[in-house]
Amino acid sequence: MPSKGENMIHSSQFSSQLKLCKLPQSQRYSLPFECYWDAFVYEQERMGVFANQWLGLGRADRLNQPGEYEVFELCGQTLLLIRDQKDALRLYANTCRHRGARLLQGSGQCQAISCPFHGWTYALDGSLIGVKSMTKTEKFNPEDFPLLEYKLDRACGFLFAFLGDNPPELKTQLVDFAELHQPWSLEGLVTTRRRVFEVGCNWKVFLDVFNEYYHLNNVHPTSIGNIYLKPEVQNKTLGEYASQFGRTSGTGALLESQQQDALPKIDTLGELLGSGTRYTWIFPNMTFAAGQESIWVYQANPIGPNRCEVRQSICFPRSTIELIDFEEKSQAYYQRLDDAMDEDIVALENQQQGLSHSPSLQGRFSTLMESNVASFASWYADKLTDA
Ligand code: FES
Ligand SMILES: [Fe+2]
Repeated sequence: MPSKGENMIHSSQFSSQLKLCKLPQSQRYSLPFECYWDAFVYEQERMGVFANQWLGLGRADRLNQPGEYEVFELCGQTLLLIRDQKDALRLYANTCRHRGARLLQGSGQCQAISCPFHGWTYALDGSLIGVKSMTKTEKFNPEDFPLLEYKLDRACGFLFAFLGDNPPELKTQLVDFAELHQPWSLEGLVTTRRRVFEVGCNWKVFLDVFNEYYHLNNVHPTSIGNIYLKPEVQNKTLGEYASQFGRTSGTGALLESQQQDALPKIDTLGELLGSGTRYTWIFPNMTFAAGQESIWVYQANPIGPNRCEVRQSICFPRSTIELIDFEEKSQAYYQRLDDAMDEDIVALENQQQGLSHSPSLQGRFSTLMESNVASFASWYADKLTDA
C-alpha cells in the first residue's frame, strides 16, 4: 500500500483520529498507525516535529579535542558536529558550499574540513579558507560561503540543537526539567560507553518501548522483567517532556542474575529515588533512564519511515569511575543494556512489521503503564495538526 499522501493527512478522518490522541490521559487513544510508516506523515514530521524544536543530541561530554567530529543523519539531512579551536562544539550542515557534496563521514579528527570533491576547505569555525582556481571567477568572496551553522545549547549535561530559524530559549521548552532531575546531579555525570546502531522500526516505536512498563514481563521475562515494580503515577511536568518514576527490586541497570555487581548509588539521591528508576522522554527524540547509580540515554534519529539510528550512552558519577573495580563491574552494566536491547529489537521489528501498511487503526493505552507514551502521543498530535 503506497503512502496515503496529502489527502489523508488533511482528511477529516485523520484529524478526528488525532483529536482522540489529545483526550485526557485515561481516555486517550494511540497515534493512528499510519504515523509509524506512512511516507507523507514522515515528511510532515520534518516541519512539524523536528524543524522548530530543540532536539536532544545526547550527552555533551564528547569530542573533547579540537577537530574531533562526528557525522549523523537527521530527517534526511547530513549534519556535522565538531569541536573548534576555541573548545566550542559546533553543528554544521555537512554540505559543501560549492556544489553541495557531503564533506565528512563517520567520526574522526581533522585540522580543517576539506571537501573530497573539488577541495574547498573550511576552518573549524566554518569559514571558507581554501579554494583552488577561482581567481577568474568574478565577484567571488569566500567570506560569503561559510558552512551553514545551526544553534547548539546545553542543559544538565545534555546537548541540544535547533535546526529551524529563530530558536527560542531552550529553557522555554524544558521549563521544570532541571528541577525534577536535580537529585541525579546530571551535569557532572561522565559518559563511559557510547554505542551507535540501527533498528528496523520507526523512531517513535523505539522511543515508545523505552518509556513503557507494559512490555517488561513479556519481552524481558528472565533478564530484567521482575526487577521493575509497578510504577508510580506519572509526574506532572510543565516542559515538553514526560517523566515517570518506579521502584525496583534491586537496580534496574543490571540483569537479575548480576545484581551482586551493583556500583554505589548516586549519593545525592534520597531513599525513594535511590531505590528505583526515573524514565524521562524529552520530546521529540531523546530519552533516558535515571537509575540509582547511572543514567542511560538514547537518541533516536529517523532515517526513513521504517528505520532509525539509535545513539546510546551510559554515564556514572566521577567518584564511581575512579573506583578500583569500576572497569570490571561496569561490564555488567553494559551487558544489561545490550541484552535488554537485543530483546527489545526483536519486539520492535515485529511491531513495525505488524503495523506497516495497516489500515487506519488506533489502540488504547494502559494509563499507568504507558503514561509517557500517551503524553508523547498528545504532544505529537498537536505538532502534526499545526504542521
Ligand atoms: S562540492 Fe565541495 S568543493 Fe566542489
Ligand atoms: Fe524493553
